[in-house]
Amino acid sequence: MCIMHITSGLESKTLMKAALVRGAGQTPVYADFPRPNPSAEEKLIKVTAAALSPLTKGRASGQHYSSASHFPFVAGVDGVGRFADGTRVYFALPEPPNGAMAEFTVVSADRCVPLPEDLEDVTAAAIANPGMSSWVAYKRRAKLKAGETVLINGATGAAGRLAVQIAKHLGAKKVIATGRNPESLRTLASLGADVTIALGEDQAALESNFRKEFASGIDVVIDYLWGKSAEVLLNARAEVGGEVGPTRYVEVGAASGAQINLPGALLRSSAIELMGSGIGSVPSDCLVAYIGELLQATIAGGFKIAVKSVPLSEVETAWSCDDNATRSVFTCSKRRKSEGCSPRPARRRRVVTLNTTSSLNKTEAL
Ligand SMILES: NC(=O)c1ccc[n+]([C@@H]2O[C@H](COP(=O)([O-])OP(=O)(O)OC[C@H]3O[C@@H](n4cnc5c(N)ncnc54)[C@H](OP(=O)(O)O)[C@@H]3O)[C@@H](O)[C@H]2O)c1
Repeated sequence: MCIMHITSGLESKTLMKAALVRGAGQTPVYADFPRPNPSAEEKLIKVTAAALSPLTKGRASGQHYSSASHFPFVAGVDGVGRFADGTRVYFALPEPPNGAMAEFTVVSADRCVPLPEDLEDVTAAAIANPGMSSWVAYKRRAKLKAGETVLINGATGAAGRLAVQIAKHLGAKKVIATGRNPESLRTLASLGADVTIALGEDQAALESNFRKEFASGIDVVIDYLWGKSAEVLLNARAEVGGEVGPTRYVEVGAASGAQINLPGALLRSSAIELMGSGIGSVPSDCLVAYIGELLQATIAGGFKIAVKSVPLSEVETAWSCDDNATRSVFTCSKRRKSEGCSPRPARRRRVVTLNTTSSLNKTEAL
């Protein structure tokens, strides 16, 4: 622990270590920041683990619609830690300038949920955001029913891989997964995907593949990509028309494009129910409650995610090196010299596998 006191005029402040964003677009740096004091409605949390999700990156870079506008602020939108009485919790959405990537944070009590005993801090921190994306989309927005068919557009990232597993856990009869990387796509069968569709160059072939699947009935689409592939999907669905039941289409991410071209006639001519899921379309306290539910189900569901644990002191290097092969999770520990990004070590991921009887950590290449 790196706490020290400074005196400025009459005021004495306790400092802690944090990942600080000092200006728009700047990579966070490991630096001193005042330790926050909780108000009556807030809880002080000693942070143990905080994950580097696309939301965390987007907010830190100022690109996300919910980004903070005043600098400096502490990076990190959620994490795992302990209250003063030792209660272990997942917490979300500390108010800027506070953030999750620090030794301490303060969070409104209604944005904290207790963790199941068997779930490790790092795993819980890694799974919460990507797992929530589909858990909430299925349960709250699409209201997925057992026996239905789901298509996940962009299923090769952390969120998509969990969306495949969670769909099966919630009783989906058939899961169709799409992705641009054929190698990653192939690994999705072992997570429960029944059909995989590569998002290749040939648009006509892709549309024909989608049409075939829609003609057999797709009840729910979870879309992490938006952009061109969403246009192809929606066109294919419209071409199948009203002869099959409605399709609930949930926009969850925009990894391949922020905009699409959507002719009005396409919605008029087919039973597409278009909606979104995320911060804003679902109230924050509900999102946190759903994350609590997801984390309670994680061990029984055997959900898998590839994680990499990194000391918070290495935030600057790890932030720049991060890719979507593994979810980086920062943990508080003493500073040691960074190894840098290059040359990169052979890629090996720690895949956390959880089952009903024990918490088992395996290292394997996916
Ligand atoms: N609304 C919510 O509640 C919520 C919650 C969590 C995440 N999200 C959003 O969901 C998306 C995925 O999150 P994540 O955690 O899975 O991120 P991630 O682990 O970084 O994965 C990113 C995914 O996007 C794919 N991708 C990126 N650019 C692409 C392109 N141009 N064409 C096709 N595929 C592309 C990647 O494919 P490759 O495997 O081929 O690289 C990978 O599957 C992000 O946009 C994130 O902001 C939304």
